[in-house]
Amino acid sequence: MVAIILKSLFIASVLSPCFASTRNTTATQLAKFFSDTFISTTASYSQLIFPRENLLDQVTIDMKFNLKAITNFDEVAGTLELIGILKIIWTDELIDNAFNESIHGDFTEFLITNSYVWKPAVSLFNSAKSIVPVGDLTNLIRVEMNHNTGTSTLTWNPGVVTKTGCLVKVRDFPFDKQQCNITFTPWGHPFSEVAFQPTSTKVDMDGYDESSTWMITDTEVFTEILDGGSFINFQLSLTRRPTYFLLNMILPILILGVLNAMAFLLPAESGERVGYSITAFLTFAVYLTLIADTLPRSSSPLSLLCFFLMSMVVVSSVATIITIFTLKVYFKDEDEPVPNYVASFVGCLNCLMCKSDKDPEEEMFGIIENEEMDAVSINSETVKKENTFFDDAKSNASDESDTPKNKYGVDWKLVAGTLDMFSFLAICGASVGIAVVFLVPLAAQM
Ligand SMILES: *[C@@H]1O[C@H](CO)[C@@H](O)[C@H](O)[C@H]1NC(C)=O
Ligand SMILES: *[C@@H]1O[C@H](CO)[C@@H](O)[C@H](O)[C@H]1NC(C)=O
Ligand SMILES: *[C@@H]1O[C@H](CO)[C@@H](O)[C@H](O)[C@H]1NC(C)=O
Repeated sequence: MVAIILKSLFIASVLSPCFASTRNTTATQLAKFFSDTFISTTASYSQLIFPRENLLDQVTIDMKFNLKAITNFDEVAGTLELIGILKIIWTDELIDNAFNESIHGDFTEFLITNSYVWKPAVSLFNSAKSIVPVGDLTNLIRVEMNHNTGTSTLTWNPGVVTKTGCLVKVRDFPFDKQQCNITFTPWGHPFSEVAFQPTSTKVDMDGYDESSTWMITDTEVFTEILDGGSFINFQLSLTRRPTYFLLNMILPILILGVLNAMAFLLPAESGERVGYSITAFLTFAVYLTLIADTLPRSSSPLSLLCFFLMSMVVVSSVATIITIFTLKVYFKDEDEPVPNYVASFVGCLNCLMCKSDKDPEEEMFGIIENEEMDAVSINSETVKKENTFFDDAKSNASDESDTPKNKYGVDWKLVAGTLDMFSFLAICGASVGIAVVFLVPLAAQM
């Protein structure tokens, strides 16, 4: 008794969302149709039976994917999460077998919960969670019967929240483009039984909610046969919107590169130099960690940005070492003589620099300068002789007045100053060079 009541309730619940496109039928007639076809113990139809008169025939499925939103793209884990609606269409030759117009009325279309009809177990194949058929048993299926051919067309629109694996290529981060496949397969059916035959070649973007981090530049639909089964791939081509990373990562790193070189312009007496250099070095290391955290831990290919940052870390550490070294030179005991080769080298560099400074006057004093140069060279020869004399006569300790008197009157402070100037230029040059080498190929991807 209870069972009968439940059953009639069930029929009512099935009937309620039903309507027919040619609807010259009464509720009683429809109820009779549902009972005769799906529900009674002598029902003509079973959802367990493959929907073909000839069981060797193939069921072809037309499948569309309507993408609604990208909810998450986790590059580190390599997973893409989407919300979408599938549109799965196939034909069934058995549903209208019990249909009799004089008993059931004249109708061609009705809705039914999908638990009553045979449906392909379409499953998300490259799921990052578990491979289970899409939809649930409360989803409705629209059935359109064609009484002349006896073939009904079934349309099922299950909503899906997918989490699929996607191999992330980060070489061009943050100007990277990714391609991800969302793959479905009719689980359990070989190709000879169920095959995908999509009619559209693109993913349906109707009602798509734009993502703030990814742009969809292209979509594609592929079918393929693997291991005797039919597979359908919805391929999304994604391009990252790079502004966030430009402002928060690349720009600060470029500014840091400039700041790093500035250490050499700080006066040595200020005592801040080493601290300043170390701070710059640590900041690079922090940015390296930040970027490493946003990228997958894959070594092939490694992100160009990582190489860029790593190079900047190296430059920064070299700058720190040079800073310490120049400080040591700067505060060297004044009594200690500057070696000749250092003195002449520093003198040469400084002279080159004064020359370029004196450019406008050069023509006027050209002759005088030449004469002076001659005088200097003669002097230096004598100085050299003196030096060799001192070297030979090691016992004679040199007087204080003698120490700075090498070729150009170079002292340790000048050596340190020159070293600073050239380190500044070298670090600037290296930073610019590294930026060009690594960032230009990146920018070319834009
Ligand atoms: C509806 O069906 C009745 C009998 O079942 C028939 O007499 C009538 O003409 C039909 N009306 C339409 C609009 O088909
Ligand atoms: C339809 O039902 C009527 C009345 O029960 C019956 O006479 C007729 O043979 C049935 N038609 C078919 C094709 O079964
Ligand atoms: C997606 O699937 C198609 C068809 O198998 C394949 O050609 C393509 O390379 C796949 N794309 C990705 C990103 O795996």
